[in-house]
Amino acid sequence: MKLKAKKSSDLKGDIKIPGDKSISHRALMCSAISNGNCEISNLQRSEDVLNTLSVLKELKVEIEPRDDRFIVTGKGLRGLQEPNKELFFGNSGTGIRLMTGILPKQDFSSTLIGDDSLSSRPMMRVIEPLKKMGISIGCSSSLTPPLKIFPSKNIRGINYDMPIASAQVKSAILFASLGLDQETIIYEEKITRNHTELMFDYFGANIEFSSKKIVLSPTDRLFAEKLSIPGDFSSAAFFIVSCLITNNSKILIQNVGMNPTRIGLLNKLKEMGAKINIFDEKTLGNEKVADLEVETSELSSCDVNSNEVPNLIDELPVLFIASCFAEGTSSFKSLKELKHKESDRLSIMINLLRKIGVNADLMEDNLFIEGKGKDFMFDGFDADSHGDHRIAMALVIAGLNCNSQINISNYECINTSFPEFVSLGKSLGFNIEIS
Ligand code: S3P
Repeated sequence: MKLKAKKSSDLKGDIKIPGDKSISHRALMCSAISNGNCEISNLQRSEDVLNTLSVLKELKVEIEPRDDRFIVTGKGLRGLQEPNKELFFGNSGTGIRLMTGILPKQDFSSTLIGDDSLSSRPMMRVIEPLKKMGISIGCSSSLTPPLKIFPSKNIRGINYDMPIASAQVKSAILFASLGLDQETIIYEEKITRNHTELMFDYFGANIEFSSKKIVLSPTDRLFAEKLSIPGDFSSAAFFIVSCLITNNSKILIQNVGMNPTRIGLLNKLKEMGAKINIFDEKTLGNEKVADLEVETSELSSCDVNSNEVPNLIDELPVLFIASCFAEGTSSFKSLKELKHKESDRLSIMINLLRKIGVNADLMEDNLFIEGKGKDFMFDGFDADSHGDHRIAMALVIAGLNCNSQINISNYECINTSFPEFVSLGKSLGFNIEIS
């Protein structure tokens, strides 16, 4: 079976985006180690988040579905119980890396594993700062999962300059710093998503943060009664671009997470000339949300500099697609981190852009894409997602301007972040089918 995407136009409709993936992982973890019951609404029902949920259940946390919500009974910072098996995180870097901050405070050892993609992702980035904090943690000889975490009695706060821009690493350190006698201070040169900081604050932790400095002072308990999760901007991104690059389209996307550290794509598209109106801005559990109205637009090229990369890192595959339909050459600087995602997104996307028929040149880790303008159409081809959900969805968006069709194999990985993608796309008028 393949997912086939063909020329589409006149996208119309009004959709609501399911909960944010990054925030869903954090919501489950914070409530599991809190003191009390937390009712979570709009949790993302993706494979990645459900794997985190299963891991927490394996650690004997009670998580009960109630109507469209989940009630999590917190066990406190040190109250998880020994699992009967290895902890399986599927495809999720966020799941495995964030749990490395929670598990060393428990009184049992654990082994953390993942699927083939996760099993080849770098883990020294979390292991190095956690070891500095006195945590006992190891990985395979290739510096990847499985991870082994041991009960660590003398964990210390840390002053840490982030060597790479990574919200997962920052968050692992913050989770590890809960329940200590000393403070932890983290400095980041490039600003990464701040969902952990915002959620710790919402759960009552002693945390202060400005753009580049985070201070977590001793915090012994977390608590929040209710938490509502905003729609995932990274999921909305595919529909935003689909609408911009197809003829005669206009859609409304409701309840989209608008955290400033996540909406780099929106800002960039607006600079490119995208017609996007923002309505009904509000705050939900410390996070900003809004409705977006998007319309077919004539785009000009963009320049993305290295400081902007972390705030649109997950949206780069679909921004590359948008730049194919823009006028002029777009440039993207410092894309090294893109090689370490669910796949090597840099190499895979360059090959796909060339199949689409645009010039894509890589100089060191800077990419240049020669756009062909709004009326660009191209011939169909067969493509593989390489098991990467964002590559699969970016290919679908490209396919909406294909003369014939793009046949995407291994498309099932879309379920790792966005199981509703195909049905929501069809509801807007995407010409796609599985056959
Ligand atoms: C995430 C952080 C980012 C991002 C990933 C989710 C998070 O990864 O790419 O999809 O939830 O903290 P890095 O921390 O590796 O940059």
